[in-house]
Amino acid sequence: MTEINSVTTLTQDGDVAIVTLNSPPVNALSANVRDGLYEGFKQAIASDAKAIVLICEGRTFIAGADITEFGGAMKGASLPDVQAMMENSPKPVIAAIHGTALGGGLEVALCAHYRVAVPSARLGLPEVNLGLLPGAGGTQRLPRIAGVEKALEMMTSGRHAPAKEALEMGLVDEIVPEGQLKEGAVAFARKAVAEGKPLVKVRENNAKLEPAKGHPEVFDNFRKANARKFRGFLAPEYNIRCVEAAVNSASFDEGLGVERKLFMELMMGPQSAAQRYYFFAERQANKIPDVPDDTPTRPINKVGILGAGTMGGGIAMNFANAGIPVTIVELKQDALDRGLKTIRSNYERSRGAVAEQTEKRMGLLTGSLDMDAFADCDLVIEAVFERMDIKKDVFTNLDRICKPGAILATNTSALNIDEIASVTKRPEDVIGLHFFSPANVMKLLEIVRADKTARDVIATSMKLAKQIGKIAVLVGVTPGFVGNRILGQRQREAQKLVMEGAMPWDVDRVLYDFGFPMGPFAMSDLAGLDIGWVKEKSKGESIRDVLCEMDRRGQKTGAGYYDYDENRNAKPSPVTEKIINDFIAKSGRNPRKISDEEILERCIYPMINEGAKILDEGKAIRPSDIDVVWVNGYGWPVYRGGPMYYGDQLGADKVLAKMKEFQGAMGDDFKPAALLEKTVAEGKKLSDFKR
Ligand code: CAA
Ligand code: NAI
Repeated sequence: MTEINSVTTLTQDGDVAIVTLNSPPVNALSANVRDGLYEGFKQAIASDAKAIVLICEGRTFIAGADITEFGGAMKGASLPDVQAMMENSPKPVIAAIHGTALGGGLEVALCAHYRVAVPSARLGLPEVNLGLLPGAGGTQRLPRIAGVEKALEMMTSGRHAPAKEALEMGLVDEIVPEGQLKEGAVAFARKAVAEGKPLVKVRENNAKLEPAKGHPEVFDNFRKANARKFRGFLAPEYNIRCVEAAVNSASFDEGLGVERKLFMELMMGPQSAAQRYYFFAERQANKIPDVPDDTPTRPINKVGILGAGTMGGGIAMNFANAGIPVTIVELKQDALDRGLKTIRSNYERSRGAVAEQTEKRMGLLTGSLDMDAFADCDLVIEAVFERMDIKKDVFTNLDRICKPGAILATNTSALNIDEIASVTKRPEDVIGLHFFSPANVMKLLEIVRADKTARDVIATSMKLAKQIGKIAVLVGVTPGFVGNRILGQRQREAQKLVMEGAMPWDVDRVLYDFGFPMGPFAMSDLAGLDIGWVKEKSKGESIRDVLCEMDRRGQKTGAGYYDYDENRNAKPSPVTEKIINDFIAKSGRNPRKISDEEILERCIYPMINEGAKILDEGKAIRPSDIDVVWVNGYGWPVYRGGPMYYGDQLGADKVLAKMKEFQGAMGDDFKPAALLEKTVAEGKKLSDFKR
């Protein structure tokens, strides 16, 4: 065995040289890895071996460029040098893939002459999710192997294709049994030598580009079909342009030139910087200072859900999807039946639904009207009506029924969890698991740590969140927790703006253009204006009251703030406009023209300010956690990083100055957070905050 460098070895198995990489955690293409590959291949080529296998140790093949190196000066061998060394090898090079071959990792594998993989391997070009494009020839090679349409789809979604699909599209040449990657790759290498298989250079294969030549509509149609999904993002468009260049350029190298130029543009731009920041923010959120990774966790083999309404049903689906049995308890049989029916129809309507899978998942759900059915559950989550007296009653019963060590969780969206926990004899087992609606779809899970919540209960909840595919953020007990508390700021300003002369569609348009999927008024129409509205008590005291009294209760009634046509397309409503103008007249004020800039600043700056208060109070661990909450739970555009990151991009001083100006003009809704003042006084950034 030759040690090439600290992360690379070269060994020989008969006449096959094996270059092995071992750079935990994910064999990312750091300078060290590139050096090792370059030198390893150089020596393998110079050796008497007849073929070369590239294989990785640890959990995965190369998962991409080392993102931590981005933006800094490049050291070591360049990636194109490594790729050229492999591609121009006079001996067949075989990439042996397990785990994931992503981004630069797949681009390296595409410079091997052949690729073998185990069935569990996944391959993809996920750069788009970092606001980038594959910058090492991937945009030119993938369409040459998989065809233009498949390449467009994979590059703009960043999807990881499973090995079987990769085989079908020619991205992988052979699948070898799980656990036998090395043997399989070496056998493939021997076969290549014995059969004199050609040294395939993907760059030379133009056949799959032909069908798109002279057909610009292929690209235009793709753009049109995905316009909604790509809105606001630069990277998808740049990925498309690179594939266009692959088709239209006179040579591979010319296409590569386009790729390089567009890659650099994205890399230096603000969107990718935000998306790279966000990549690490999401991973950082898993780290809890006083709950280290080795904190023991409790086994969760059976889950109980109380309440089969909007949230309970969706929450139950998450566990059934992960193969965990669920007991659902309701008050009355008809509510239970309704809940289970909704779950079934959600499964049946979901994309790619398979009847067998629906039955399997439904088979994991058991309904009951008796809370005693929770006796053997390891975790119970209550999702009953949002009333403290009911929650207290429920937790008194759970305390009596559940076995020792069971985790007792509440899905409350605003109630004080310390108070809820206080009715039990085991407040250390009580935690908030705040799911977002629809709970089977939304990625975010706010895990709410109460005063006495035990560390292993937190560790178990964080682990479980991963298991059910959620992105968890640990927050503290505070009204609305992190997400809704910040939302409250935006909602208040949106309502006030309307009473000052902006129309709901003005506010919505500005926030939509900022990058949110929809504005607050369109959102209210979608959710239903009558949530929490009580007909008998309604006295026309607010715009919402009047709308509901007129049966304009949102999309479901064909009208709310907006008017809707039969396809649910929204139109500004003269009825709403009149109601608003009447309210303004009654208030004795004159409506004024409000600029888009003011709408944006009024809605967004108080959110940043509230984030600073939350940090100061210790209700979020770090600024980036707040950003993860807002990107995943509320549709904050990831290319703007999140409210706290955005605050830093604007400059904390600018946010503070604006808050002071608004405070002077409009009062203490805009009172600057002490932490914001302190950050500016010390010349720091919000992201510098550390507890
Ligand atoms: N660079 C640097 N660090 C990386 C990394 C990368 N490409 N990918 C993962 N890591 C780090 C993570 O930050 C994490 O570190 P900590 O443990 O310190 O938090 C660790 O590796 C493990 O990552 P995950 O927690 O995400 O582990 P996982 O098993 O859940 O997922 C993965 C593994 C699927 C590879 C996932 O990490 C991932 O998607 N990584 C990014 C892949 C990617 O985007 N590659 C393209 C890079 S850009 C590129 O390649 C440009 C080009 O064309 C040259
Ligand atoms: P819902 O009204 O749709 O469902 C509540 C269900 O609980 C009803 O089916 C009711 O019959 C049942 N229930 C009430 N008391 C019960 C009891 N003692 N035992 C058994 N079942 C009982 O309400 P929804 O929207 O699902 O909300 C539930 C909880 O989730 C609330 O605390 C709410 O604040 C919270 N939440 C709601 C979100 C939403 O968007 N709807 C988002 C996040 C949290």
